[in-house]
Amino acid sequence: MKPVQTKTSEEVKKELRQYRYSKTIGFVPTMGYLHNGHLSLVEQCKKENDVTVVSIFVNPKQFGPGEDFNIYPRDMARDLKLLEELEVDIVFSPSLVEIYPAGYSTYVEVEKLGDVLCGNSRPGHFRGVATIVLKLFNIVEPTRAYFGQKDAQQAVVIKKMVNDLNLDVVIRIMPIVRDPDGLALSSRNAYLSREERAAALCMPGALQKVRAKILDGLRDVSVVKDMLQREMNKEPLINVDYLEVVSLDGLETLEEIDMHNTLVATAIWVGKTRLIDNFILGEI
Ligand code: PAJ
Repeated sequence: MKPVQTKTSEEVKKELRQYRYSKTIGFVPTMGYLHNGHLSLVEQCKKENDVTVVSIFVNPKQFGPGEDFNIYPRDMARDLKLLEELEVDIVFSPSLVEIYPAGYSTYVEVEKLGDVLCGNSRPGHFRGVATIVLKLFNIVEPTRAYFGQKDAQQAVVIKKMVNDLNLDVVIRIMPIVRDPDGLALSSRNAYLSREERAAALCMPGALQKVRAKILDGLRDVSVVKDMLQREMNKEPLINVDYLEVVSLDGLETLEEIDMHNTLVATAIWVGKTRLIDNFILGEI
């Protein structure tokens, strides 16, 4: 069965009214151009809920000036087909003005957590993410919502927002889905040339090496960061944006690896494409 496609908040609310008090509603927010990472969230959502809602909306408020909002890959027909194959119940694909009508002026800021790592390289990014996710939560009112560990900081920021604002939704974080060569799936991988894609592999390679050393007993964060930097330096086609080792709960700089509370997060530029990856010790 084709998913019911809704384009306005009124439509999706109306569609959900029949389920609201008797069924669990699972929600997977996305920006579309779906890959197996997104689909793994949808599959988990289907397992755990009676009704599954997927949103597709490329949110301009989380892109900075000069970033890739205008060229972000989009293919609604293909996305809808993939969601139909997975038997998703409802797709919500609103227009820009539906979400941000003229004069829109309210934003959500998650202090500190939204300012480091990707927030430092992309000022205002997490304000845009928190704002759209809260709006979508208010429209869908899900029982559970699904996010990927691929965007670990995003997951931490959203969990904090849910907690700070007493939102009645369970946040589920799913593991990173990778291509067989190790590259984390991302809609932005579509930008990479063949050479760039090969170069990008140094990021998961570096993370994997460091992770093995940590599992072997390495605890000194400065050594970890040196190792990461050295691995990344081997690949001339990439530029490191950041490599950080922080606590998973507060995203605060660590000197020693805490085996139950550490995020090792990296961001690189490969040509004009920015890619992120990470591993965690503990749970988001
Ligand atoms: P988008 O990049 O489309 O990702 C949607 C969801 O898929 C996010 O929760 C992301 O972490 C997850 N995801 C992406 N790649 C993944 C991978 N390789 N493995 C597992 N999960 C993966 O993240 C966003 O959109 C937006 O910021 C959004 C939350 C929709 C707000 O606009």
